[in-house]
Amino acid sequence: MNPKKRILSGMRPTGALHLGNYHGALTNWNNMQDEYECFFFIADWHALTSDYENTENIRNNIHEMMIDWLSVGLSPDKSTLFVQSDIKEHAELFLLLCMITPTPWLERNPTYKEQITQLSNKDLSTFGFLGYPVLQAADIIMYKADGVPVGIDQVPHVEITREIARRFNHFYGNVFPEPQAILTPTPKILGIDRRKMSKSYHNAIFLSDSSDVIQKKVNEMITDPQRKRKKDPGDPSVCNVYDFHKLYSDESLIAQVDKECRSAEIGCVQCKKAMATNLISKIAPIREKRNYYLDRPDTVKEIIQAGSEKARAVAQETMKQVRAAIQICPRPIAILHKI
Ligand code: TRP
Ligand code: SF4
Repeated sequence: MNPKKRILSGMRPTGALHLGNYHGALTNWNNMQDEYECFFFIADWHALTSDYENTENIRNNIHEMMIDWLSVGLSPDKSTLFVQSDIKEHAELFLLLCMITPTPWLERNPTYKEQITQLSNKDLSTFGFLGYPVLQAADIIMYKADGVPVGIDQVPHVEITREIARRFNHFYGNVFPEPQAILTPTPKILGIDRRKMSKSYHNAIFLSDSSDVIQKKVNEMITDPQRKRKKDPGDPSVCNVYDFHKLYSDESLIAQVDKECRSAEIGCVQCKKAMATNLISKIAPIREKRNYYLDRPDTVKEIIQAGSEKARAVAQETMKQVRAAIQICPRPIAILHKI
């Protein structure tokens, strides 16, 4: 019998999760729980790399994020769910990996270059921000993960992780396997204004939204921009509402919308109504579970604590091997006595 392969992935605690996060990462994580030994964690130190000035929400965001995870089906019985800063070993491994990581590897990282220009309102010329992928490498190799389920934007980081692991093994002996990125399928899901769904664009539908709010947001969704009146035939292939139908409606309704939109038999108001009904019935049970955990903050804390204990045991074992490989600690007894 083959032991299960191990995967690991993380998310920065950015606050309430929206449908983009749900379909982009969480559904995939959820589906991997039976096939793999899973480690999922909240990367709160990574949040500090860009948001070091505003830390007042982090604690609450961690709590909310864990609630969202539990509500969509991540389970502490199947997976190890934890918070990065609870495992101080990540900081130690990060420090050691910093010693062997050439800065040009970090400077040429496409995500780094892109973010520096895109987030021009923040001062990101910090050591910590440049070192983001080194911390991520520490997160990953600490658990000797075989696979890292991520979106395409994170692939360069997994690549740097592989290079760092290789370099470590080259200097100190074989301690780390090289992890593979597992590219997760992400259905196209845009915000209600047809831009990428993002919290900062104020165009997102959240897992925490009430049914009324979802209905209102769906009503505001931009449809086929060419279709001004109901009697104009529409083109579902350019319509965001239709993309949502593909995620939430059954085959026959999808086919019907496709046909009746093109023939101008169905109006956008009616079409949205049908989609919203299906979306709401998908989100309602998630929201119910959210409310359950929102009322039980201690249960959530206990889940995080138990997950962190499981993660820490693995991390401590890895760090023993790392220190031995680098020959930094434990030192021979004779030397210790002299200090
Ligand atoms: N960089 C990831 C993101 O922004 C979060 C992350 C931190 C991560 N450490 C990780 C993802 C380790 C996978 C593995 O989404
Ligand atoms: Fe989009 Fe539906 Fe309107 Fe067609 S009828 S444009 S699919 S909202």
